This record gives sequence, C-alpha cells and structure tokens, in this order.
Amino acid sequence: MSQSSRFAVKKAVIPAAGLGTRFLPATKALPKEMLPIVDKPVIQFVVEEAVSAGLQDLLMITGRNKNALENHFDRVAELEQVLSDKGDKKKLFSVQESTQLADIHYTRQGDPKGLGHAVLRAKSHVGEHSFAVLLGDDVIDSRDPILPQMLKLHEETGDNVVALMEVPMDQIHLYGAAKVSELSGDVVKIDQLIEKPSEKEAPSNLAVIGRYVLRPEIFEVLEKTPEGRNGEIQLTDALQFAAANPSVAGGVRGVIFRGRRYDTGDKLDFIKATLRMAIDRDDIGKELRVWLKDFSKEI
Ligand code: G1P
Repeated sequence: MSQSSRFAVKKAVIPAAGLGTRFLPATKALPKEMLPIVDKPVIQFVVEEAVSAGLQDLLMITGRNKNALENHFDRVAELEQVLSDKGDKKKLFSVQESTQLADIHYTRQGDPKGLGHAVLRAKSHVGEHSFAVLLGDDVIDSRDPILPQMLKLHEETGDNVVALMEVPMDQIHLYGAAKVSELSGDVVKIDQLIEKPSEKEAPSNLAVIGRYVLRPEIFEVLEKTPEGRNGEIQLTDALQFAAANPSVAGGVRGVIFRGRRYDTGDKLDFIKATLRMAIDRDDIGKELRVWLKDFSKEI
C-alpha cells in the first residue's frame, strides 16, 4: 500500500452525546445539535461539511434523548407524500435532502466519560484506517472550509492533524491549548497540548477547535489514557501523548483556521451564527440587513 493511500480518509466520527446544559430549558427534550440556524439544524451543517470533504461514511456517537438526530436523517413518508401532493417541490427537497446526504451510522456513548471516551466508541466501526472527527456543535462556515486541507496534510505526512484557532487569552480555559513550533504558513508542529488550561498555564492562545484527523493507533492510546480534566477521558490528553511519542501513534500537526467558526453550544455564538448566515440568504437576507441597520441605531 502506498503511503498516501494508507492515510486516505473515508470515515468521519461525529460525537453528539453532550447534554447541552448551556441551552436549558430548550435542550431538556431537544438535542442541542437539533437547534436550527435559521431553518437547518446544527447537526446538518456538520454532516454536510464532512460530505463536502468527501467523507460519506459517518458514525454519530449519541446518547439518551438524542433520537431526534436519527429521525432527522431518516425518511418521513407521510410528510413527503403531503408535500408531493401539494406540488411543493422546494419543501419536499428540503425534507429529502438530509436523508440522502451520507451513509450515517449511530452508536450510543453509554457512560458520559468525556470526548476521548466518545471517540473510543468508534473503534470497531473505524477499524484500521485513519478517520476524521467533527464535533457536533462546532459549525465551520461552509464558505471557509478547513477539513480538505487537514485531510491532505494527513495523507501527505501520516501525522494526526488538529484545527487550531487564535482566541482571546481570557477564553483559552474553554479549549485544548497548543504549544507549537516550525511554522510554515498556516501549518504548525504541535509540541504540547493542555486541556482547558488556566490563562497562566496556557502555552499560547492557540485553541483546538472541533476538527481532527486521526490515525487508528489513537484508539490504543485512548484506552490507556487516564481520566483528566473534569474526571473525563480527554482526546486532548491522548493527542498530547501522541505529540510526545510520535513513534507510537504518529506526531501531531495543526492547521491554523482563520475563517468563520461558531460554537453553537454557546448562546452568544449561536446568535452570531444565525445572523451571519441569515444576512447572506436569498429569502430573508435583504430585509434582515435593512432591519439590522435600523436596529443598531436603537442600541
Ligand atoms: C472539546 C475539547 C477541547 C476543544 C473543544 C473545541 O471541549 O475537549 O479540547 O478545544 O471541544 O470546541 P468541549 O467544548 O466539548 O468542552
């Protein structure tokens, strides 16, 4: 097998088991990934991103109360019939679109033991191949894709790849933070990763955002990773081990992202995502722009 085909990626894992406590009470009965940005649930943006990067085989890691995710990507015969009888092709397409996107598989996380534990649940599905991980509530604007560059870098180097973004130092405690070297454009070598450090502990303001391309050896590393921050198995800790021991699971590289990314689990970011996407839409964009200009005078 040639080096490049050995590291070709076909599968993506989408962890979506989190409780969404920041959005209570809305998320009491509704998965946070089903909250819509205008009229499309957050999870569909994530699935579409994976599909446009060429990944058709998706495994979603879900949990209790997440049945709506499966339903969203399934057919609804009665609704499709009603729309078809009415001749409403546009709505019919919007309903069918999500069901034809990809080959989506589901498994439950069981114990909520952290992101590393969720990713480990994908071991038997992923097998011996490299795979991508897209966090289910991190939305990367489709106008600024980063996954294709990460997949290419992985194919070329065989290293694990994470997406990084500069954040204000007072927000670094919300993320995995990276110490990096050997800059070449937007690509860096990662020397150290720390999960949710204090501002003082943080090695830089480069935060890991929710996109990863990983080698299958990461599963063995995760199996041996002890509980870390919040008593959970952290993916960041497994990647820190990989960075420190590149002969075991490959090294770790980072691609610095400078585009539009929204943490839709955060209320303010959610509103920003909605506005940014809405103002560019054909149906409501024009009116919204006018209204926003007027509204900004009121505040
Ligand atoms: C997770 C990861 C963290 C990463 C973040 C990106 O944290 O553990 O390293 O920086 O996603 O969104 P969470 O936001 O799930 O607490």
